[in-house]
Amino acid sequence: MSAQDVAGAVTSRSLPGAPHLAWRDEELVLEGHALAELARRFGTPLYVYSRAAMRTALAAYARALAGRRHLVCYAMKANSNLAVLQTFAAAGCGFDIVSAGELARVLAAGGRASRTVFSGVGKRRGEMATALEAGVRCFNVESVGELQVLDEVARAHGVRAPVSLRVNPDVDAGTHPYISTGLKSNKFGVAHAEALATYRRAAELPGLRVEGIDSHIGSQITQVEPYLDALDRLLDLVEAVEAEGIPLHHVDVGGGLGITYTDEAPPAADVLVSRLLARMDARGHGHREVLLEPGRSLVGNAGVLVTEVLYLKPGEVTNFCIVDAAMNDLTRPALYDAYMAIEPCVVRRHLPPRRWDVVGPVCESGDWLGRQRDLAVHVGDHLAVLSAGAYGMAMASNYNTRPRAAEVMVDGDAVHLVRERERVAELFAGERLIET
Ligand code: LLP
Repeated sequence: MSAQDVAGAVTSRSLPGAPHLAWRDEELVLEGHALAELARRFGTPLYVYSRAAMRTALAAYARALAGRRHLVCYAMKANSNLAVLQTFAAAGCGFDIVSAGELARVLAAGGRASRTVFSGVGKRRGEMATALEAGVRCFNVESVGELQVLDEVARAHGVRAPVSLRVNPDVDAGTHPYISTGLKSNKFGVAHAEALATYRRAAELPGLRVEGIDSHIGSQITQVEPYLDALDRLLDLVEAVEAEGIPLHHVDVGGGLGITYTDEAPPAADVLVSRLLARMDARGHGHREVLLEPGRSLVGNAGVLVTEVLYLKPGEVTNFCIVDAAMNDLTRPALYDAYMAIEPCVVRRHLPPRRWDVVGPVCESGDWLGRQRDLAVHVGDHLAVLSAGAYGMAMASNYNTRPRAAEVMVDGDAVHLVRERERVAELFAGERLIET
């Protein structure tokens, strides 16, 4: 293979994140901005997000929902940078939160509590109180115990808390192996078989106002069928609950739509939503407000993690490409054995590729970003880990006293530093030496 062929092979590989991520000559660019140049300007490791990619992803949901009463609640656990939240809030999006900390971010970014739903199996009293004071749209309640505590907290505040029960639909895992949170064995939600009795209980409690029904069956789902199965189970319940005189105003179908990391082919968001709406119409539920809680599918392919090659260490069994990003910056490969594509930011035309394990500086053998990747790289080159916009920075830690990465958002011609790189002194500012 000639060097020309090698470069051609790299630049013709399909890029998850296209069209905002593209090859321009031999440079990898996001919304037209060369990633290697951003790396030189802001340092590495560096997360870079495309604002247009986020808006495009949201627009696909909005397109399918046009003409319906609906609320897309961005599951901000996927990426909670304020500029990301601001982008979605400005586009009319609501939020799905799982802590009072996330609520504080929504408000700081200009989002509205009245367009925010509060999910999570372990809400604390203080968090419930904060959310009630802010006026959240709905609490997605996951257990009878939580219902009782929420009732008490709401009564103490002299208000009624809006609630929706997160129902665990127990969709058959055998046919749909991707869905891991909607099974009986998972900690999430109220069991489908107990849901009717739990609604009766909720309707009796004076501090609560029953509003809707909710379910979230898992993440990185690449098929429509599990959603349709779960929706059917939910609608069965809606009919049973309403037959007892408890009206349910909205149906929240959760998040979970997958993205392309390598060769997955999930349905487009508008295709998924259209199928769900068609099922609701067919069953006579077309008048109900629809809520969705997408996370990954709104931001995942909008971001990359750029890292610099520090050392090349060929070995007898494995060649190691040691980069300055590590499992603390991007934990998905180490934690889930997740495959994330890695591309050079500049194609080396005259260098034949070698097979590398791309690893970070952290002192753990599990500290890898990609294994067995064919890359043509020199020390000092930059690599981009693709599809890193979701559950990347949001899950970063300071392990090994490594400051967390900076984040940049590109927006047309503009480049914004939306989070400064952490400084080492900040990492132990809250710690105390002991008097001796
Ligand atoms: N709603 C609820 C109640 C959730 O628990 C989640 C995600 C979402 C919505 C959004 O799901 P998405 O659309 O992003 O799939 N850290 C893992 C993913 C954990 C997802 C947790 N819950 C990863 O990196 O793959």
